Amino acid sequence: MQRSASRCLHLALPRVHRVNGLARSINTQPTNNPSNSTPRTASFGFKTVPEEEKETLVKNVFDSVASSYDLMNDASSLGVHRLWKDTFVSSLRPGRKGPLRCIDVAGGTGDIALRILDYAREKYADRETTVEVVDINAQMLKEGFRRFKKTMYHNTPQISFHEANAQELPPTLFADNTYDLYTIAFGIRNCTSIPDVLKEAYRVLKPGGTFTCLEFSRVNNPLLSLAYDQYSFTMIPLMGTILAGDRGSYQYLVESIRKFPPQPEFANMIRDAGFSTGEHVDGGAWTDLWGGISCIHTGVKI
Ligand SMILES: C[S@@+](CC[C@H](N)C(=O)[O-])C[C@H]1O[C@@H](n2cnc3c(N)ncnc32)[C@H](O)[C@@H]1O
Repeated sequence: MQRSASRCLHLALPRVHRVNGLARSINTQPTNNPSNSTPRTASFGFKTVPEEEKETLVKNVFDSVASSYDLMNDASSLGVHRLWKDTFVSSLRPGRKGPLRCIDVAGGTGDIALRILDYAREKYADRETTVEVVDINAQMLKEGFRRFKKTMYHNTPQISFHEANAQELPPTLFADNTYDLYTIAFGIRNCTSIPDVLKEAYRVLKPGGTFTCLEFSRVNNPLLSLAYDQYSFTMIPLMGTILAGDRGSYQYLVESIRKFPPQPEFANMIRDAGFSTGEHVDGGAWTDLWGGISCIHTGVKI
């Protein structure tokens, strides 16, 4: 098995790092796996694949869905993802205690970044909070960049886009103890190693900084769970076929939700990474939305 370290290079699209630019880090250097006898595996939806293949498969999914991602998000969730994202961001109250330096990882087309900046500006007249959007997929970032071009944040230091792997944020671009707020929405379940993502989140946050994750989760009510399964396994791949001409990618997205650890297990992973969380219950370490269809997890770097 090979794991990869990273090196950084700047992508010429359209300017480099931190001012409305897109900086890229590419993984090139394999390192040795001490136990190379048994190949390590990861889940890709309901399939088990060699760990090193998962990233490419996930990249293919998001390459394929990037141009239709926002439309499909609205169609498949009947617009509910907007409400969850609004709840997620307003629970953080960005700007309340002054400008924040934020990193939105697996930020895709910038839904969370835009909400953070809008919230800080509209509620607290804060035009100094910044968000660095990080994603492994250049196509998703390009969609985000295009979208921000139509906003007042374009060409300001408030927003920047970076191509990088959440599991190995290059320390030259993302230094230790840098950010007040780390957000990741509907992204962590796509990553090969959740502990590696959490470790990096812990590294880049300032002491006292907040890690927060919005992710599809486990529905505890059996009736709701049944209805939700019926809906997601039939309607979402069908809509993927009709609206995006891509059933497979949307089938993966639904399957990956079912493979994600349930709330208490994920909360333990957050703690294991060093974060302090609330009590090990809904309303403490995590907050279920819509009966657990999605869920907000929070931890503070101590
Ligand atoms: C479902 S989208 C969510 C996008 C956005 N956060 C939102 O809520 O609309 C998941 C994103 O995770 C990104 N992603 C997957 N694996 C990643 C990794 N290892 N590092 C960074 N981003 C990753 C994908 O490229 C994709 O843009």
